[in-house]
Parts: sequence; C-alpha cells; structure tokens
Amino acid sequence: MLNKIAVIGGGNIGGVLVQEIVRRRLARNVALVDVKEPELAKGKALDISEGLPVLCTDIKVEGSKEYDVIAGADMVINTAGVPRTTRPDGTIPTREELLTTNLKITDAVSAGISKNCRNAMIISIANPLDAIVYRLNMNLKPSRAKLMGMAGVLDSNRYRYFVAEAAGVSVDNVEAIVLGGHGDSMLPIRSACRIAGMPVEKFVSSDKLDAIEARTRKAGGEVVKLLGVGSAFVSPAWSALEMAEAIIFDKKKILPVSAILKGEYGVEGLFIGVPAIMGAGGMEKVIEVDLTASEKEAFAKSVASVQKTADEVIEMTK
Ligand code: LAC
Repeated sequence: MLNKIAVIGGGNIGGVLVQEIVRRRLARNVALVDVKEPELAKGKALDISEGLPVLCTDIKVEGSKEYDVIAGADMVINTAGVPRTTRPDGTIPTREELLTTNLKITDAVSAGISKNCRNAMIISIANPLDAIVYRLNMNLKPSRAKLMGMAGVLDSNRYRYFVAEAAGVSVDNVEAIVLGGHGDSMLPIRSACRIAGMPVEKFVSSDKLDAIEARTRKAGGEVVKLLGVGSAFVSPAWSALEMAEAIIFDKKKILPVSAILKGEYGVEGLFIGVPAIMGAGGMEKVIEVDLTASEKEAFAKSVASVQKTADEVIEMTK
C-alpha cells in the first residue's frame, strides 16, 4: 500500500481508476484533480467517499480543481486530455489528431506534478500515448525508470482476449505481447504468443491470426465507434492498474510499457512500447524480444511513426 496516489483527469478513465484504487486498497490517500467546472473531481471524490462504509475502508479520497490536492503523491496516473470521439459525420480521429489539444493540457499537468510531487512515479494514459509521455519527459526530466506510458498492456490484453475467443480457451492461458507505438502501426508479436506454453498457431489458423492482429491494431477505434461518445475506459484503467500493482507490490512483472529507449532495439531517446520488468523501482529493465525479419521491419515502421509525432511535439514547442 502506498501513502498517496494521484489521478490526474476526472473523466471516465480517472473515475474508474479512483474506484479501483479504493477497492483494491492500493493507497491510504487518493487525490483526483480535474480543472473542469464546477467541481467535477470534488463531486467524483465525494460520490466514492460516500460509498466507503460499504467497503469498510477509511481511505481518504479528495478531489479538487487545484493541483495542490496531489501534493506529496508517491505515484501519479495521468489521464488528462480529450479522448477520441466519433465526429458528426461518423468518422473517428486518429489518436495523433488529439496532439495539439492534449499537448497544452500536458504542459499544465507537468507544471502541477513539478510543483507538488516531482519525485512521484508516473504512469501516463493520455493520447497520443507515446507523444504525451515524450512531452512529460521533456518537461519533467525524471529518471528513466520513473516515467512510463500505458498502452502495450491494453493492446496485449485485447490480443489475448481475441486469441482466447478464437481458440476456445481461457484468457488466462494466453500470453501475448504487442510492441511499438500505440497507434495503427502497433505490432502484435505472433512469435511470442503462446497458449499454455504452446505456439499459438497450434490452436488458431494463420488467416484467423492475421484477422485478429488487424482487429487488435484497430481495437481502440472499434470501441470508439460502438460507444458513440468517447473511447474505451474500463480496460485502459485496469491495464494501468496492472502496471501500478507491479510497482506497488514489487512484482518484477514483465509487461509491455511505453519506455524511453537508450539504444535498445537500435532506438535512442524515444518512448515506445517494449516489454520491461516492472517493480518497486518502476520500469527496471527493458527486455529485447528476438524478432523475426518481418517483425523487425514492422517494428521499424512503428518507430518511424512514433518519431514523426515526437518531431511534431518538438516543432510545437518552438
Ligand atoms: C484505446 C485508447 C484509450 O486504445 O487509446 O482505447
């Protein structure tokens, strides 16, 4: 149990996060900040606090429009930003199209963290995922292990769910990793997908796997279309908590996370989804997967697309 977890952004993901942090008793204090009028964060915090007797817990839940509420947090989970949502003409934007709006919000988030809890471990969920973490890193310059993005856990859970459904087995039996950026170029790694330790191809045909991998790459958009308003929020929140729990309980769990690469996979200075050992130190070690030639090629394409958005971040700073 930590002393304090701060959740930034009181939208759908933020709301699920606070509920789950309380239900799982991950911290003694939970702070929710959202600048929205009149008092969105305060309202959500009060709603959850009034349910605490049902859970028989005295965790302190506070919400505010002011960043002071996150003072002294050991861990920050950042969800602040507008989500993807269906346009009036029925099309949906890419995550990258959120950049201009969400970059400004990220600068305010950075200032809030810097002033109130500059040594906190940070897990960021806002989109475009890898670019927002890149910006947080530019602004806050934390040590490498203390800042990471949540995307690969969600993308891998989606891949696992689709594979389990196709194979007719428990999701528990399916191990999978999705690498690369959290965009349409993400890379489900078939050679690392196992069902109870056996290669996935033993259970699912290669044509079906092609379709599952294509669906995984577009899975966020599929939910956006179905919801009509906003984007997925329960599975992203749970996925971030899988990372948070690996840190809080020092699990040394290998999870795909958006981490800054320092030469691994031949990449320097870019946040991109790779498996890493997650423990009390945060992102403790990047693991290099042995990729096939075609997976290497696809990974390079994903790196190029993440680099393009990172370049836009730098351009917008000027
Ligand atoms: C998704 C959003 C949260 O993939 O990026 O659903």
